[in-house]
Amino acid sequence: METRKIDSATVRADFNDLLSVVHYTRAAHELGLWQSERRLIERFFPDRATPLLEAGCGAGRVTLGLWELGYRHLTAFDFAEELVDQARSLAAERQAGAITFLHADATRLLAGPGQPWDDERFRGALFMFNGLMQIPGRAHRRNALRQLHRVCAPGAPLLFTTHDRDSSPTERALWRLETLRWVRGEQDPRLVEFGDRYFEDETGRTFMHLPDRKEILEDLAATGWSHTFDAMRTEVARESRAVRDFSDECRFWAARRNEGLPA
Ligand SMILES: C[S@@+](CC[C@H](N)C(=O)[O-])C[C@H]1O[C@@H](n2cnc3c(N)ncnc32)[C@H](O)[C@@H]1O
Repeated sequence: METRKIDSATVRADFNDLLSVVHYTRAAHELGLWQSERRLIERFFPDRATPLLEAGCGAGRVTLGLWELGYRHLTAFDFAEELVDQARSLAAERQAGAITFLHADATRLLAGPGQPWDDERFRGALFMFNGLMQIPGRAHRRNALRQLHRVCAPGAPLLFTTHDRDSSPTERALWRLETLRWVRGEQDPRLVEFGDRYFEDETGRTFMHLPDRKEILEDLAATGWSHTFDAMRTEVARESRAVRDFSDECRFWAARRNEGLPA
């Protein structure tokens, strides 16, 4: 069995893989925004003229959804270049050429001459469909949150989703078993931390970190964000069969950018 730890190169290669590109491109073309996403986007980003940043845009499912809702100052990026290419071509097809698509890593939004990542440039940020949790290593996820903090203005909202290890009795039972594996050192050696999963299905290979609620609250506080809202998707809206087939239950999180970073 492969024992090398999963890192960002693994995740990027998995998202650039043909199976994954087809999966996310189809969702961008055919599925669009979930009901729950639309509801929370309209609630937390009421001003459609404001500059928004979407991290982990993939093939543009959410980006084009935002455009269709009337948001006009959109910058979207992803570190999987094959997906960014798909997002650009969908935007061209839908006459949404004003959207800026960039190839970038959320943990490294470098400021400097010729770079688009000036301090406090955006008035809101989104990291939808669990993209933040696909960054291996808690320190790296916190880095991404700090980078988003830097490029967003004070008071800017951040909306993202995660899975939740505590969301149901079944999840809790499965994670108790996983705890035992970690105690005995019998976990998948490629995993970085407890809570990680790495699996393969018809849509390709997926790395995902599943946090508990406390972990996310701590990560927000440590990276300059104030928690404002969280709820499971089923509490926000009833989704269509197509959306439920595409994506499991998740927890939505909203936070607001603090003035500064914690000391
Ligand atoms: C589950 S996909 C969601 C794609 C799209 N937002 C959607 O909802 O269809 C997560 C996305 O996050 C991107 N991603 C993961 N880690 C990233 C990072 N460090 N920097 C930029 N993008 C990242 C992946 O390449 C992938 O496109």
